[in-house]
Amino acid sequence: MKKLFLLGSGGHSRSVAEVSTDRYSAGQVKILSLEEFALLPEDSCLESVEFLVALGDVKKRNAYYKLLLQRSWRVTNLVSSKAFLADDVTLGQGSVIMPGAVIRTAAQIYPNTIINTSVIVEHDCVIGESSNLSPGTVVCGSCNIGNQVFVGAGAVLIDGISVCDGAVIGAGAVVIENICLPGLYVGNPARRVK
Ligand SMILES: CC(C)(COP(=O)(O)OP(=O)(O)OC[C@H]1O[C@@H](n2cnc3c(N)ncnc32)[C@H](O)[C@@H]1OP(=O)(O)O)[C@@H](O)C(=O)NCCC(=O)NCCS
Repeated sequence: MKKLFLLGSGGHSRSVAEVSTDRYSAGQVKILSLEEFALLPEDSCLESVEFLVALGDVKKRNAYYKLLLQRSWRVTNLVSSKAFLADDVTLGQGSVIMPGAVIRTAAQIYPNTIINTSVIVEHDCVIGESSNLSPGTVVCGSCNIGNQVFVGAGAVLIDGISVCDGAVIGAGAVVIENICLPGLYVGNPARRVK
């Protein structure tokens, strides 16, 4: 029987476990703390196991995703049955799409991303690897979000915005200009504060 190992034992992991019941029975899903993961021998043959990194921190998320790939362990993705994805959306491995998320035509979701509860990703957007869009974020059409970008709950990015790799956008921020330097951006309009 196939098993799903969720890497990380915090609240996000339990949210992912909840979504996983669409596809797996409770007995198939195991939440694995980072300590338990560290005990798995590197050369384990885990043919019947699929992994998902279930950590919200984008840097840790990325590091563990890369480790799974390095070990050739299988990484899956998970889409809530209560999310809407247009037919032509591209979805990378390791990504999680939470209930109420809406992802519109021609959007590209790179691997290992979190598209959290009720996030809207409009047409033609690109969401980079290991990025995390918190609940209620609205990404308007044709935005290009880099890798390992954290976006806090309820943030809004207007049409066509680009965000560089590693940027952090605070909850409720309204981003109306491209973000070209990593750092923390908050407020309306969003400004770099550190
Ligand atoms: C963005 C965030 C991660 C910043 O955390 P941080 O790096 O610890 O930043 P700090 O708390 O040191 O704040 C730095 C400054 O930005 C301000 N600030 C931080 N977040 C802000 C926000 N969302 N809106 C407005 N101002 C904010 C702080 O008041 C502080 O201002 P000051 O220097 O004038 O006192 C955090 O504030 C945030 O918004 N988190 C989002 C949480 C979320 O959506 N979680 C979803 C989980 S599912």
